[in-house]
Amino acid sequence: MTADPDAPVVMPAGFRWGVSTSAYQIEGAVAADGRGTSTWDTFCAEPGRVLNGDTGAIACDHYHRYADDVALMRDLGVDTYRFSFAWPRIQPDGTGPGNAAGLDFYDRLIDTLLGAGIQPAPTLYHWDTPQPLEDAGGWLSRDTTDRFAEYAAIVGARFADRVPLWITINEPMVLTLMGYSLGAHAPGKQLLFDALPVAHHQLLAHGRAVQALRAAGAQQIGIASNHAPTWPASDSAEDKEAAGLYDNLINWMFADPILLGSYPTGLEAAMPGPVADDLAVISTPLDFFGINHYAPVSVGVATGNPDTAATDGVLLPPGLPFEPRTITGYPTTDFGWPVVPDAFGEILRIFKDRYGDRLPPIYITENGCAINDGPVDGVVDDQRRIAYLDGYLRSLRSAIDDGIDVRGYFQWSLLDNFEWAAGYSQRFGLVHVDFETQVRTPKASYHWLRDVIAQTPSQS
Ligand code: NOJ
Repeated sequence: MTADPDAPVVMPAGFRWGVSTSAYQIEGAVAADGRGTSTWDTFCAEPGRVLNGDTGAIACDHYHRYADDVALMRDLGVDTYRFSFAWPRIQPDGTGPGNAAGLDFYDRLIDTLLGAGIQPAPTLYHWDTPQPLEDAGGWLSRDTTDRFAEYAAIVGARFADRVPLWITINEPMVLTLMGYSLGAHAPGKQLLFDALPVAHHQLLAHGRAVQALRAAGAQQIGIASNHAPTWPASDSAEDKEAAGLYDNLINWMFADPILLGSYPTGLEAAMPGPVADDLAVISTPLDFFGINHYAPVSVGVATGNPDTAATDGVLLPPGLPFEPRTITGYPTTDFGWPVVPDAFGEILRIFKDRYGDRLPPIYITENGCAINDGPVDGVVDDQRRIAYLDGYLRSLRSAIDDGIDVRGYFQWSLLDNFEWAAGYSQRFGLVHVDFETQVRTPKASYHWLRDVIAQTPSQS
């Protein structure tokens, strides 16, 4: 039977639908109720770091408008909301007992969600490190894994009774690469391969948080790790080798330790500490594995003339053995990322082939696109986002039909928000935000996705 391209894509009964956000990207209110300074507050204050000098100081003012935003989710029909706890709201100095006012905010949010029939799926860490921890070495320091376990125990004790789905860390690869290796994100360090301990410490912190959350009674625990197929730029042996190396660094250095309890060949020796003991903690069994996916990457051997269009404008330092290349022949989002729906199914099949029975159920913890259409006569007609979501959801459905156990899809993002080094220039939302007035306008894609969600058969 061939799928009818005009019929809406229908997901299996019981499939979870959600939207994703993160604290620094939407909350604002950076000085409210005892919140401490985060590495992103510091980074944004440094001239030249973020496009147009934008900051998350106000963002979507979600801290004050969360009830309106939950109403938008309810009307969209999602059953799950993935957000993040701001660590500096809960432990302003990154250590010590929880800050009551910070915990109370998440208490209100969680109760409002539950009242609207939406299950909360918090991420403990989405890149906003308490600044005092960064000053003490941040993720280069093993002590941060102790701090993270302590923080996980605090949020677990407070919320495990009401939170069904937990996510430890968001995209440890991006923090390692962009934050500590290339310096394009907070904390802005350019350590190149000396950033590898950041990967190991986040993985260890993840494993320790899983254990702390379980001890607090949490039920379903996973991670949100970003993955994409790495395509060799050509069939040449050099390009294939360069792509293989890059693939190990961006994909398997993060997923293998968790799912296999080992690093890809050669990487274990680069990691600090009692690595074999740590791997036993890192591979603590998970209830699900969360995958964030946006676009494939193409990689070739270094030419000495790096292609900044393939690295979101980041200039790679000389001397690296590989180079990302621009993928041509596909439409692009307004951020310049290629729109390749089939790569979504491809990465899921690669996971199944690599991990077999060791792969727990998958949630898609992020997928979406920057399409910067604004309101015209009060309407945001973002047809290119609809085309993107339609293509990617069909690819996901085909992977499910091939036997890959994907239990849910959380779209990035509910609202236009602070897109890190790109500031407010890239709009990922189903809902347009006017950052002057904070007026929210659901886009055409919001209405479209609502209709798709409504097609899902209910579980008998
Ligand atoms: C991944 C990150 O988790 C999220 O913070 C970011 O906004 C989106 N991808 C889009 O780049």
